[in-house]
Formats: sequence, structure tokens, C-alpha cells
Amino acid sequence: MMADKIVYLVLFICFGYTHGEMDTSVCTGETPGPHDPPGPPTLPDAFEVHVEANIYNRNYTVDFHLWYNKTMNQVSTHTTNAGTRFERLYRFDTNELYVVNRDQGICTVQPLTTGRRAFLFATVTGGHATMKTPTQFLRFNMTGVREKWINQTVVRGIKCNMWRECLYSAKRNSTTAVDWYFSVPSWYNAKLSNQIPIRAHVFGSTVMKNGQKRKYDHMYEFSYLNLQPEGVHLYDLQTPAGVYCPRAKNMKPLPTPTSSFHFTAEILFGLSISRIKEWYDSDLNLVRYDYDPLGTQKYGTLPLTQVHDFSTGVAYVIDTLRGNCTATPISSTGFDVRNADPSHVRIRTSKEFFYFDKASYVYEGRRQVRGITTDVWIAQRNDWPKAGSPNSTWEWYFATPNYTANLMQKPTFGLPVRMVLDAGIGQHYIYNIYDYDERRPMIWSYDISNCFNYSERQDFSFRLPGSYRKLVNGNMELFRYAVLQAIVIAGTSNKLQLSALRVYNIQIDYADNSDIIVQFTLLDKAPQVGDVSNPKQENSLAVVAKSISGAINSGQLIVRLQIPPTTANMVAKPYSLSPGRVVKDAYYKQTKAGSTSTTGVSGGAMAGIGVALLVIFFVIGVAATYFYYRRQGGAFGPQKIDNTDITSTDA
Ligand SMILES: *[C@@H]1O[C@H](CO)[C@@H](O)[C@H](O)[C@H]1NC(C)=O
Ligand SMILES: *[C@@H]1O[C@H](CO)[C@@H](O)[C@H](O)[C@H]1NC(C)=O
Ligand SMILES: *[C@@H]1O[C@H](CO)[C@@H](O)[C@H](O)[C@H]1NC(C)=O
Ligand SMILES: *[C@@H]1O[C@H](CO)[C@@H](O)[C@H](O)[C@H]1NC(C)=O
Ligand SMILES: *[C@@H]1O[C@H](CO)[C@@H](O)[C@H](O)[C@H]1NC(C)=O
Ligand SMILES: *[C@@H]1O[C@H](CO)[C@@H](O)[C@H](O)[C@H]1NC(C)=O
Ligand SMILES: *[C@@H]1O[C@H](CO)[C@@H](O)[C@H](O)[C@H]1NC(C)=O
Repeated sequence: MMADKIVYLVLFICFGYTHGEMDTSVCTGETPGPHDPPGPPTLPDAFEVHVEANIYNRNYTVDFHLWYNKTMNQVSTHTTNAGTRFERLYRFDTNELYVVNRDQGICTVQPLTTGRRAFLFATVTGGHATMKTPTQFLRFNMTGVREKWINQTVVRGIKCNMWRECLYSAKRNSTTAVDWYFSVPSWYNAKLSNQIPIRAHVFGSTVMKNGQKRKYDHMYEFSYLNLQPEGVHLYDLQTPAGVYCPRAKNMKPLPTPTSSFHFTAEILFGLSISRIKEWYDSDLNLVRYDYDPLGTQKYGTLPLTQVHDFSTGVAYVIDTLRGNCTATPISSTGFDVRNADPSHVRIRTSKEFFYFDKASYVYEGRRQVRGITTDVWIAQRNDWPKAGSPNSTWEWYFATPNYTANLMQKPTFGLPVRMVLDAGIGQHYIYNIYDYDERRPMIWSYDISNCFNYSERQDFSFRLPGSYRKLVNGNMELFRYAVLQAIVIAGTSNKLQLSALRVYNIQIDYADNSDIIVQFTLLDKAPQVGDVSNPKQENSLAVVAKSISGAINSGQLIVRLQIPPTTANMVAKPYSLSPGRVVKDAYYKQTKAGSTSTTGVSGGAMAGIGVALLVIFFVIGVAATYFYYRRQGGAFGPQKIDNTDITSTDA
């Protein structure tokens, strides 16, 4: 019932201005006098104002907050209607009208040019809506409309000039008088604006279809007028946070994630704040995440690391404090998992990982979160947490492209700052994303050595000619990758690739005769527990060791270290492979600080490694060799019995 009253509010504005047979009891037409004071200046292209409308003939008051922005071609109004807060967003840039129930978060989108949706703020011709200028919108000083200055008077205690307009609409057979009150030139508001609209009094009569005359009388009070464009926030010209508008046009494409990345997230849920670190690499089929499990979960409450190797379908759950590990099938319910078919799992694509698949994201605009100006997209889906669930909304915040991060290059994905998931009452999650980095996570990040006991692992060492000593010393990290690559190739036999996950703890030392001693640990094959459709078959530890030994003895284990412009092909000395540990002083230890992830190493040091990593990955990809790396060392705290060179890792 109240909704229709809103229409009266705008009644006066929809009149044409043809002069005709007026109701002379309302007004008789105005002729400006020669000595009238000049009209007030026009309003700027962006302003914000509060309007209180008093509809006397209906005994009704309603308040509007209005944002007008001709530059952006948008108008927004906030009002309360029958106790419910509404927003109307007129988008002349996209020809859409958004009507948002702000209390229930329901939004509908309609074309602006159909019906009479746009008439208040636009003129519609031939299906195209042109936004009105402030003058056209206020109907003051328009061509064909004459205002007569009446007198100076006081409105709400403000000294005002008053003008009167007399309008007649033949179509509606109505006569309307509009009394405009603008503050006088010498009266300023707190924003130092003068000659601004203070009040419009609209009254008149119309002859209805049944021939009856009906009178109307509206009073519009203008307050809080803000003419400073920088004060007219863009944020008000968009839909409220968390509200999805079905069928809205998307004016900015959602960023596309890359195939590998690493980040830390803070998860806010109710009053709980938890954290998770995630590493993702769909090229290598690997996911790792570190988290603090809830008390009710099966591996206790100590911090856990999970490494999911989708090539074998094995999830390695590592208790980082106790150092023990459980290998289980990758569960189909994990956030990194999709069902390839009802009984098999696969890694999510990066789009699936971020829930960008099967959802149409709509650009909402810009918003500030965590002190960062962000671009925000929103989508709705009904498959979370499982298919057929009620609607949930997903909102992604990305730092605007103006922001830089001290990464080598701008992430193609951009910098995600926050994700908000709202799946109904009691299901509101905020993911604050930090430390986003799409450089391929260091291969050593996926360490599963805790999952293999001493009978399932073996140490080996071999020697390289000492003449490369200087080169190796200056490029220790790259050298380790090169060694890994060589071992992966040498350990591949019977057409079964050696997974790089199985080679870890590569150490370097120099023998008395200045040979380079390379030591590494080889792990047994993955436990046969996974549910991937096509698990990789693997050779046993003994077969791999034999293959590596064969390669070394025939001069075919070649460590290729590419440090442009040089490429060193270091051939392992035949018959130098020996089991057990010989490295006493692990040179690599000195550079160990950043070995667990791409973070924690200074930008300069990382730059070289990152670029080289990509190069190496490309080379390996071409060689179609699996390239699973592992980080050196192991867990926190208790040292592994057979591993004397553990150093602590990050959390
Ligand atoms: C009204 O028109 C006059 C002359 O065109 C102009 O100087 C004045 O700024 C206008 N005032 C408004 C409110 O548009
Ligand atoms: C408004 O209130 C007056 C009395 O104050 C009453 O006579 C009139 O009928 C009311 N009008 C409407 C439209 O309710
Ligand atoms: C100004 O004019 C209006 C309308 O004629 C009148 O009601 C009002 O009393 C006048 N005010 C002053 C201060 O003269
Ligand atoms: C580690 O050992 C503890 C104590 O035996 C056990 O409760 C826990 O489930 C184990 N964790 C993993 C990841 O295997
Ligand atoms: C989910 O939202 C769509 C509109 O996006 C709506 O048509 C549908 O009814 C909603 N489903 C539920 C269960 O609320
Ligand atoms: C952001 O970048 C755009 C275009 O590159 C530029 O127009 C705008 O002024 C920048 N904004 C800030 C706050 O630097
Ligand atoms: C090592 O682990 C394997 C597989 O879990 C198990 O069969 C074997 O008994 C273990 N060996 C020792 C000495 O614990």
C-alpha cells in the first residue's frame, strides 16, 4: 500500500510543460519581472543530497538519500519503504535498473528503457535512455519553464530566495505550481556552498479519468547537500556487498588464475579465526596445505601438513610437531579435489579451486577492504557444499591494478585480497588472502619424507668433477634442481618415471681431491592406496637405485647446470655411486632459510631462482619428465633418527 505512494513523490517531475487550459485556482502562469534577482547557479555533475518528502494529501513522509553522477552515468537512491530498506540504482551506462531490497539482500535487474522506469532521471527516446542534467532533473530554469522570483523568505531558519513556476500538462489535465526555495548568496552551509536548493513545494490539481478533480500537495525538503565530487563516493553507486543481482551485465571480466600459486589465508568464521597455507600446482598434480585441525578431527589438534599427490592418488598427512605421517587415499571431499568419476578423484583446475567454474561472476565495483581499494566480483551457486545445496554467494576482492607487490612481475591473476562466502544463516566465511604468489612453488615444498621409515628410504652419494666447483658454489639452489632433474631422468626405467617427490635432501660437499660430492635420499614408491583413475605405476626403490647406478657407470648421469651464458654438462664419475651418507658438512645448509617455500627469501635472491625455475620447468616439461621436487629436511622439533641434517622449517 505504501509502495504506490512513492509514485506520488515523483508525480510533479513527470509533467510535460505545454501550456494549455490551466486550473487557474492553482496558478496562472508566471512572468519574470525585469529586476528579479538572477536565478541560482546550476548544480555540478556529481552531488549527493537527502530529500524528505512530505505528501500532505496522503498524510505521509518518506526520506530519500540520492546520489547523482552524470560522469558515471548513474543515479542511486536509498529509501525505506513500508519498513524495508531499498536501493534503486539507475545505470544509464548499461541501461539497467537494479532494485535491491537491502534488508533481505534480494536484487532484481530490469532494462531501464522499458516501462517508465527511467523517466525520473532520464529522457527515453527510441529505446535509449539519456540521463538528465541536474537542471533537467530539478526542472528549474528549463527551456519553456518560466520562474518568477517572488520574495526572500525564511525556510527552516535559512534565508532563501523563492521562485514560482506554473506547469500545465494537457495529457494529464493537471496544473501544478512549484515553489522553489534556494538559499540566498550570502548564506553558506557547512560545506561552504550557497544558493543551493532548500525546499520545493509542489501542489496542484488533476482531473482523473472519471472526471473528478483531485488535489495534491507535496513538500520536498533538501538537506546535507554535498556538491564536492570527491565527497560523492563511488561506493554508493553500486549494489551493497554480498548482494547478487541475477542477470546483471558483467562489465569487467573476472581474472583468470594461473596453474600454480601459493598463498596464506586467514579464515574468519563466527568468532573463530584460523589460518591455512596453500600450495597449488596443477601442472605437477600437487597440492599442499598446512593448517591447525579442529579438535574433533582424526589426527588430533597439532598442526598438520597435507601433501596430495594426484598422480598416485595418495594424501600424505604429516603431523608437523610429532613428525609422524599417515598415507591415505585422497578424500573426494577435499577443497582441492573433484570427482573424475564416482569412484575416482582428480585435482581441481585452478578455476575450480577458486570456484570460478560454473558460475557467472558479475563485477560489482570498487570497495575498500583491509585498507586496500579492490575490484569486487560476485556470483551465486547452488553446489556448495554439495550439489543441490541452497544458493550461496561468492564474492572475490582483488586489489586494483594500481597496486604493486614486491614480486618480480605482476601476477596475471592480480592480487586476491579477500573472498566472502555466504551460504545462508550461520554459514558466513571470510577468507583474507595474504602473500599471494603465483610463481611455481619451490619443489621442495612438497615434502613427504616423514611418510617413509628407514626401511623405505636409502641415502646415496656420487661425485662430479671438481672443475665445476666454483660454478656450483655460486648457484647452489639451481644446482640442486639440476641434480634432481638428472636423478629423475637416470632413475626412470621400464618406462616408469621416477617421481621427483621421491628424491629429497640433496646435499653437497667437496672431497679432498676437490670432487663435488652429491648426496641424496631416495624414497620408496607411494603406498598403493589412491583412488585416482589412472595411478602412476612406480618402480621399487631397488629398481630405481639400480637404474641410477647403471646411468652413472655408463657416464649417462649428466647434471646440466644452465647459468646463461654458460651451460655446464657435469658427467657423474662412473662407479662413484655409493650407498649411505658421506656428506659431513652440508654446504647447502647455509642457504637453507627459504627452502620450504617461495617466501622468506629476499626478493633479489628469489628473482634469479624464480626465472631459472620456470626455465627448468619448461625444459623438463619438454622432456615429458615428471618433476616432483621435495624440500630438504623434514619436520619441526624431534629429529628423524636417520636424518642428522635436519634443520627446522617454517610453519
Ligand atoms: C538559469 O539560466 C541562466 C541563463 O541561462 C543561467 O545563468 C543560470 O545559471 C541558470 N540557473 C540554473 C539553476 O540552471
Ligand atoms: C489525513 O489526515 C486527516 C486528519 O488529520 C484526514 O482527515 C485525512 O482523511 C487523512 N488523509 C488520508 C489520505 O488518509
Ligand atoms: C513571500 O511570498 C509568499 C507567497 O506569496 C508569502 O506567503 C510570504 O509570506 C512572503 N514572505 C515574505 C517574507 O514576504
Ligand atoms: C601421529 O601420532 C599420533 C599418536 O600416535 C596419532 O594420534 C596421530 O593420528 C598421528 N598423526 C598422523 C598424521 O599420522
Ligand atoms: C537461487 O537463486 C536463483 C536466482 O539467482 C533463484 O531463481 C532461485 O530460486 C534460488 N534458489 C533458492 C533455493 O533460493
Ligand atoms: C590507477 O591507474 C589508472 C590507470 O592506470 C589511473 O587513471 C588512476 O589515476 C590510478 N589511480 C591511482 C589512485 O593512482
Ligand atoms: C615401514 O613401513 C612399512 C609400510 O608402512 C611397514 O610395512 C614396515 O613394517 C615398516 N618398517 C618398520 C621397521 O617399521
